[in-house]
Amino acid sequence: MLLITGASGQLGRALCEACRRQNTPFRAFSHRELDAADASAVNALARGPEHFDCIINCAAYTQVDAAEDHAAEAYAANALAPWNLARTGIALIHVSTDYVFDGRGSRPYETDDPARPLSVYGLTKRAGETALLEGGFSGLIVRTAWVYSADPAAKNFVNTMKRLFASRPEVSVVNDQIGAPTLAEDLAQMLLALYRKGLHRRPMQVVHATNSGAASWYEFACAIAQETGAACRVRPITTSQYPTRAHRPAYSVLSLARLQSWGIAPRGWREALHAALCAGDLQGDGAFRELQR
Ligand SMILES: NC(=O)c1ccc[n+]([C@@H]2O[C@H](COP(=O)([O-])OP(=O)(O)OC[C@H]3O[C@@H](n4cnc5c(N)ncnc54)[C@H](OP(=O)(O)O)[C@@H]3O)[C@@H](O)[C@H]2O)c1
Repeated sequence: MLLITGASGQLGRALCEACRRQNTPFRAFSHRELDAADASAVNALARGPEHFDCIINCAAYTQVDAAEDHAAEAYAANALAPWNLARTGIALIHVSTDYVFDGRGSRPYETDDPARPLSVYGLTKRAGETALLEGGFSGLIVRTAWVYSADPAAKNFVNTMKRLFASRPEVSVVNDQIGAPTLAEDLAQMLLALYRKGLHRRPMQVVHATNSGAASWYEFACAIAQETGAACRVRPITTSQYPTRAHRPAYSVLSLARLQSWGIAPRGWREALHAALCAGDLQGDGAFRELQR
């Protein structure tokens, strides 16, 4: 049985739904039900009557700007928590981020490219990765990027844009940060595919999993406007015109080569966005193509 942590976040919810649809037995815990940074709570659950063959950790401190002022809280959730989970001896699929990179590259980052975080959030996520890679554990570190779920209640870029489009004649969006927008429902299906393939049973390694392709936040916003038929004008601006508390990488596209070598070819971000905003069923088999190996 699968154990899912951070189950009330946008990825956690999508993963629970994917498990239900695919008849994958799981037990899910929200932050309120299990603080993964609390080693004794984690150990009590792992020693309990239920047998878990894998943990998928969707729990994280994800407020990139707030993390600059709440480093201890971010470290507890993003570094200590995955380490606590791995130390139970249960194989761990841990979700990490493109923000471990500094974004100075100009080609997709490979899994073994050097990590150089620019922010407290990135630093704490990298600390979590290092603890897992150096601890002799079994599992996967799945780096993803620019996650949004189709849930209208989720806090994400797509819902923020929809709200702004409805209330303003013009919205300015940064055009010099490039990444891969990733639908949480697609990522959830990729996580379950990795689990079904048994890849979590190998010594800990990194894999990248996003929707394919790349866009700037401006291009992403234009696509959201197009899909929703918004009349609002979208204006491209530079990062320097929209200063934020945390520094973000300028280019953080992740190479999907390893994921594809394992037979998983994600659909493009534009197709996924269309599915999220217009096409209804996100739990079908559209999230990725199975490649023959
Ligand atoms: N969102 C993105 O754009 C993005 C990009 C790259 C990578 N990622 C990674 O993707 C994963 C999922 O992110 P998401 O977008 O689903 O984030 P999310 O919506 O913020 O969900 C994270 C969940 O983790 C919970 N949580 C925080 N601290 C916890 C703790 N100590 N123990 C247990 N649960 C805890 C949060 O609960 P509370 O809200 O109650 O604290 C929240 O429900 C994370 O690892 C994140 O770093 C996300």
